[in-house]
Amino acid sequence: MRLLLSLYGAALFLKGALATPPHTPHGESPDEDGKYWIYGEGIAAAFIPYGASITNLIIDDKNGIPRDLVMGFDKASDYPKDKSHPHLGGVPGRYANRIKNSTFEIDGKTYRVTANENPTRKHPDGLDTLHGGVEGWDWRDFDVVSHTDESITFSIVDPDGKEGFPGEVISYITYTMGNLTWDAKMVAIATTKKTPIMLSSHTYWNLDGFANDETDTIFDHTLHLPYSGQRIDVDNILIPTGKILPNPEGSVNDFWSAPKQIGDGFKDPEIHGNCGFDCTGYDNCWLVNRPGPHDWRADGAYVASLYSAWSGIRLDIYSDQDAFQMYSCNGQDGTFPLKSTQGVDGRNADKRHPHKPAQTVPQYGCVVLEVEDYIDGINHPEWGRLGKQVFGPGSDPYVLQISHRFSVDTDDA
Ligand SMILES: *[C@@H]1O[C@H](CO)[C@@H](O)[C@H](O)[C@H]1NC(C)=O
Ligand SMILES: *[C@@H]1O[C@H](CO)[C@@H](O)[C@H](O)[C@H]1NC(C)=O
Repeated sequence: MRLLLSLYGAALFLKGALATPPHTPHGESPDEDGKYWIYGEGIAAAFIPYGASITNLIIDDKNGIPRDLVMGFDKASDYPKDKSHPHLGGVPGRYANRIKNSTFEIDGKTYRVTANENPTRKHPDGLDTLHGGVEGWDWRDFDVVSHTDESITFSIVDPDGKEGFPGEVISYITYTMGNLTWDAKMVAIATTKKTPIMLSSHTYWNLDGFANDETDTIFDHTLHLPYSGQRIDVDNILIPTGKILPNPEGSVNDFWSAPKQIGDGFKDPEIHGNCGFDCTGYDNCWLVNRPGPHDWRADGAYVASLYSAWSGIRLDIYSDQDAFQMYSCNGQDGTFPLKSTQGVDGRNADKRHPHKPAQTVPQYGCVVLEVEDYIDGINHPEWGRLGKQVFGPGSDPYVLQISHRFSVDTDDA
């Protein structure tokens, strides 16, 4: 196995994972797969204009083997073709997560946006709006406005009335790599009318680079949400009811009292129905309750920390946002292919179907970590979030900041 792994590592290195990939043009242009690479100390990542999405994020694990930690496609051109469209690594917008009944009110006027989830006979388009509607931001090509060795900036102009939202919104998304860090800064301004804005980063993680030869799930990943003693109550289709629930110590949704393996929650029958009707797993919005004024960048003040002992890779997420969504890939069904930079030699090889992708993402094979504001806060003025969710020409800009800080175990026991 070790030999295979080092061959794999060597191949990856030759393909140009970490150091200075020979096939990766530094500077303005994308590589032959349509990806824009940027580099930090011990880290490299690639992005595409489609959804301003991250497609690859590579760091060395505790054995020095490069691991690609995010789900995606090998080629940029595959993203718009994929019918399942799981919002892979993109920026959901202009309003992330769900909008109840696809409606909201601003200054006494009701707006209706395109429905795209939970279709019924009476409502064939759906009962609600997920991630900005039928053609939300992560279905569109952003412009690349700048690209250096360390950073890339995308922009989008979202026209008045698109998907039913009022007013034009102009947004800039800047990604920067540092010393084992990936930072994201998202700024949006409403130029003509008052409108809801809520963004996020919808990245699918597996800290083993989808290459763990002992398990293909993230049940062994340890999660810590130190400020998240509460979560937003949702109904059967994951629409907030308005209630804020406590997460009692030891309960399925308690990740605050101590770091816990994600799989631990699955031993408790409460996990059934935890993510909506007939759904087993997590797709929940935890509040991030920080007492009073705070410096979100302060060392140790992460809103979430994810760790895998197998790779020795830890991801601490710092953010200025006040809520946090975690999705345990309940909806994955083994059809989504891994990238050529991922996988375990020989796993699931199917000689009878040589054209089927041998390695795919199984249910619970990944975890999505989304910093955001209170979901559907525009329909719950009682939560007091309107100042952070409704923007107009006269208001401050919308700003979201994330710092992903990685560290790797050093002693290979
Ligand atoms: C849902 O929205 C429609 C307008 O599109 C409205 O007529 C209806 O009353 C709303 N239903 C609920 C339950 O709010
Ligand atoms: C990166 O961070 C590590 C640990 O904090 C430090 O030892 C190292 O000098 C840093 N590297 C650079 C190039 O700043």
